[in-house]
Amino acid sequence: MIPLKFRNAKQSDKNNVLRFCTNTFEWGDYIEEVWDEWYSDPNGYLTVAEEEDSGVIAALSHAYICPNRKRVWLEGVRVNPNFRRRSIGTELIKKMVQYGKEQGAKEAAAIVSVKNIASQAMIEKNGFVVTSRWTYCYISTTPSKVYQKPETGQARIATSKDKEMLCNYLKQSHLFRAAAENYVEFWRWYHLDLGSGVVQTLIDEKRVIITMDTNHSIIEGVMIINKTNNNMLQIGYLDAPDISTLRHLIALVINLAYNELTEKRCEKLQMFIPHIQFLQPVMTDLGINHYGQFLLYRMEYSF
Ligand SMILES: CC(C)(COP(=O)(O)OP(=O)(O)OC[C@H]1O[C@@H](n2cnc3c(N)ncnc32)[C@H](O)[C@@H]1OP(=O)(O)O)[C@@H](O)C(=O)NCCC(=O)NCCS
Repeated sequence: MIPLKFRNAKQSDKNNVLRFCTNTFEWGDYIEEVWDEWYSDPNGYLTVAEEEDSGVIAALSHAYICPNRKRVWLEGVRVNPNFRRRSIGTELIKKMVQYGKEQGAKEAAAIVSVKNIASQAMIEKNGFVVTSRWTYCYISTTPSKVYQKPETGQARIATSKDKEMLCNYLKQSHLFRAAAENYVEFWRWYHLDLGSGVVQTLIDEKRVIITMDTNHSIIEGVMIINKTNNNMLQIGYLDAPDISTLRHLIALVINLAYNELTEKRCEKLQMFIPHIQFLQPVMTDLGINHYGQFLLYRMEYSF
């Protein structure tokens, strides 16, 4: 077997990588869209495995140091089909974990589809454990498609005055525990550390939406949203104790997406929601395509 060299990716590797990272999954792959950003991000480590004699690229991975620098996020592990089951994926995981350690991270984490048995087996063999289960859904809000606008009721954007009540709500929430205290930003899962400044930052960025009871004194549901200027609106966390609150919060985001649509042509509304049993009927009712479920894996470093 020809030996492999693991090295930092070069920009010139892109085309060779895309040769085997285009039809990875039934829906394709996203490596082409993220390559340039990953390549130039100083908070990341883009690695390839190259066959020494032929120069063929056998595999790829990207490790990203999360903003709090406590977590290294593992993503984009791709092994060329001709090179699988030779422990290359395992070697990439080890290298990313080591990189995180060197950068001072306390843990490594990654997301895997419930359908991806190979990846689950690989990551579990490398010491990772499942901490939470998430549902991913989306709506393509193209201008030609008309969704009935649901009522939005008493949901509103949280302000600094709501912070304490919000933290207390989350501290007592079963769902927040089931989410292993995580929220999502564009396919990366972050620890929502209630003792840190993250909640305040999210509030300042007007990304936290709450629903209140009729007296406006108790929080009944919480949602965190992400917006980009490139046609994307995401729900990165959603916490609701019952069907009607859940429907209410999702309806609000659909309306937000509608408003974006007229001016900015918001093309996609994506939702990452910790696994809730009553999610499915609400999604069906709102005409949202149920897409899939993902497992959040984590490994704490032992120093
Ligand atoms: C998942 C993937 C990265 C694994 O890469 P790999 O180099 O073949 O994995 P390894 O050789 O390190 O395998 C390690 C262990 O994982 C498990 N594993 C790997 N592939 C498997 C498969 N197809 N079915 C079942 N278990 C599998 C085995 O336990 C294996 O150990 P073993 O070979 O001693 O039995 C590769 O199949 C791939 O690129 N898939 C498409 C992209 C993808 O799914 N990426 C991950 C996204 S989260």
